[in-house]
Amino acid sequence: DVERRVEALLAQMTLEEKVGQMAQVTLDVVGVGSNRFSSAEPFAVDPARLRDAVVKYKLGSILNAANNRARTPEVWARIIQQIQAAAAETRLKIPVIYGIDAVHGETYTAGATMFPQQIAQAAARNRQLVRRGAEITAYETRASSIPWAFSPVLDLGSDPRSPRQWETYGEDPYLAAELGREVIKGYEGEQNNVNDPTHVAASLKHFMGYQVPQSGKDRTNAYIPLESLYEYHLPAFKAAIDAGAHTIMINSGLINGVPMHANYDILTKLLRERLGFQGLIVTDWGDIDNLYKRDHVVGNVKEAIALAINSGIDMGMLAYQYEEFCDNLVANVKEGKVAQARVDDAVRRILRLKLKLGLFERPVTFPKDYPKFGSPEHERAAYDMAAEAITLLKNQNNVLPLKKTSKVLVTGPNANSMRALNGAWTYSWQGEKVEDFAAKYNTILESLQKEIGAPNVRYVPGVSYNPKQDGKYYDETADRMDEAVAAAKDVDAVILCLGENSYAEKPGDLNDMTLSPLQIELARRLAATGKPVVLVLNEGRPRVISAFEQQMAAVVQTYLPGNHGGEALADILFGDVNPSGKLPYNYPRYPNALVSYIHKYAEEQKKGEGVYNYEADYNPQWEFGHGLSYTSFQYAGLELDKTSLTKDGQLTVKVQVTNTGQREGKEAVQMYTSDLVASQIAPDVRRLRRFDKVSLKPGETKTVTFTLPMQELSYTGRDGEKVLEAGEFEIRIGNQVKKFTLTDSGSASAN
Ligand code: IFM
Repeated sequence: DVERRVEALLAQMTLEEKVGQMAQVTLDVVGVGSNRFSSAEPFAVDPARLRDAVVKYKLGSILNAANNRARTPEVWARIIQQIQAAAAETRLKIPVIYGIDAVHGETYTAGATMFPQQIAQAAARNRQLVRRGAEITAYETRASSIPWAFSPVLDLGSDPRSPRQWETYGEDPYLAAELGREVIKGYEGEQNNVNDPTHVAASLKHFMGYQVPQSGKDRTNAYIPLESLYEYHLPAFKAAIDAGAHTIMINSGLINGVPMHANYDILTKLLRERLGFQGLIVTDWGDIDNLYKRDHVVGNVKEAIALAINSGIDMGMLAYQYEEFCDNLVANVKEGKVAQARVDDAVRRILRLKLKLGLFERPVTFPKDYPKFGSPEHERAAYDMAAEAITLLKNQNNVLPLKKTSKVLVTGPNANSMRALNGAWTYSWQGEKVEDFAAKYNTILESLQKEIGAPNVRYVPGVSYNPKQDGKYYDETADRMDEAVAAAKDVDAVILCLGENSYAEKPGDLNDMTLSPLQIELARRLAATGKPVVLVLNEGRPRVISAFEQQMAAVVQTYLPGNHGGEALADILFGDVNPSGKLPYNYPRYPNALVSYIHKYAEEQKKGEGVYNYEADYNPQWEFGHGLSYTSFQYAGLELDKTSLTKDGQLTVKVQVTNTGQREGKEAVQMYTSDLVASQIAPDVRRLRRFDKVSLKPGETKTVTFTLPMQELSYTGRDGEKVLEAGEFEIRIGNQVKKFTLTDSGSASAN
């Protein structure tokens, strides 16, 4: 029925109507006011602007990115009602599709449940929690009448310099693929039934290689050889496409000098033809303009439009200039520079999505039908995720958990900030509006006061973040640092909350990975008092801390744990919750040694080995997968079944995990493989192949079983095709290691 309706509509549409469907503008385009981008006023629709965009130009889509005021679901429903009423005035009454950056909850709505950001979700290593978070986000997004989430981010977060690493699931392709699949099913439903008004269409982003530009700066050029693109960057997108995701957004940057929005080989040959992606391809912000304004690959906007659409783009996230897009695309078609069939193909995909979402029948949804919006049940899910994400990196002499009778000094720029806990894309683009809604939630300081009683908590900032005038960037200043250091003398322990303030995209570009000088100074001076200092990191990317890490008694990574991160942290510091997070990236020790856990043997040149005698190159402060607990786990009895070690076979791996400590705990069991010889491309030292999280009481043992089709041990060869070579492999789970031999066919051996 959907296909019949798509064709019936398409048959009636004029070229102008079709082109309008392919255009997406920011909500501010149809709002009142002259300085709409930075307006501090509550948003209001300007009826004349709305009519021009939706009735005259018949624009197909609107997104929210600019105007920074968080709205309530009721306000959203009214805005979207007005937009859909305008759409209903058009000849064919095609509804507008509204999209939003719901990246860790419904970003632009006050009172929505804010989960830990993706990087923290990856640390939790818990598929169920990630799916539940996506289901809640979908429900709350629809409560605001919005059916399309620009999420999840499936870029590989393997460069910690990137200002958007925290938006990824970290540096492992398998982890990203597994969690991405859960999010698709959480957003779209097990059967991808987006007609259900508690589901939204997902948008995978940013296809692909976005997070690894050579300069480390947002939206610049990355050099990625074909085999690396396929081996590391593609798998998470492929898994999500196979899971039925409805839309995809393109990388704003360039790969090997080619802007991705002009890359026919990637958008059409790879994404459409090889991966069979049937859904909608949307640009990122202003990226058609960028083809000539930024990248100089064409001479004017008209050529840029033709290039992008011919490369495979279906919808332009134009931001502002819709007249220019629509008029030029119409002219391009009339002049034969863009084929009518290409436009029809794009419009079919847009109409299909709108029909599948049920927008023709139900252009607006109503907040009253979503009673669980921001409910305690939803907030609890956000807390649970934070509690499993927070990662204990170091715990010298078991200084943690602290005794509840302790007196503590809480200090550092992140100690009393909801903005820092949430990160960006929270109530506003850069997260600066978080503080407007902070009263409902607890900062780290407030959570600690609740945990052990306010009289036992002394707070002195030490260092503070100060917004610069445009509100997007921040400065740091010393804030009663002497007083903080003096106060340390009167307490049992110092809880030092360091890291970053919120940022997204370009404003988060970084020139130095090292934590800021003022924060280092505060840490060193506190350590010099001789009191145990518990370093709490609250940061979007791992800032280098080796200048003072050795002086810290304990280190806890909170990432960007969301609205309930403060409470989860307090529960961990004082022992109500046993930490179970694992790093989703290598934490670098030096700014010039940003080596990924996925690396070649050449990175591991050790002292005394080979020709050189330098310090080991592979020297992360903490490795991917690292994370401590208040109990201890022992691994034993790693077993491989010996019957099916042929290329078309499947391996069953069993291992026993025992809680050998004194308290209940959760353990993320992680299985790695190493290909000991690979002939075309030097093998990676190890790769994560499976993970699962188990909960164990003291003394309890569980057997964890993983199955692994041998094909998953293949690697991408020089021509971009998968190769699986017979030979020796190694399997590692905890401290358990076994080798096995893979054969082309017939029997094989494990040892
Ligand atoms: O979805 C985002 C994208 O991640 C970055 N640029 C803007 C888009 C819409 O807000």
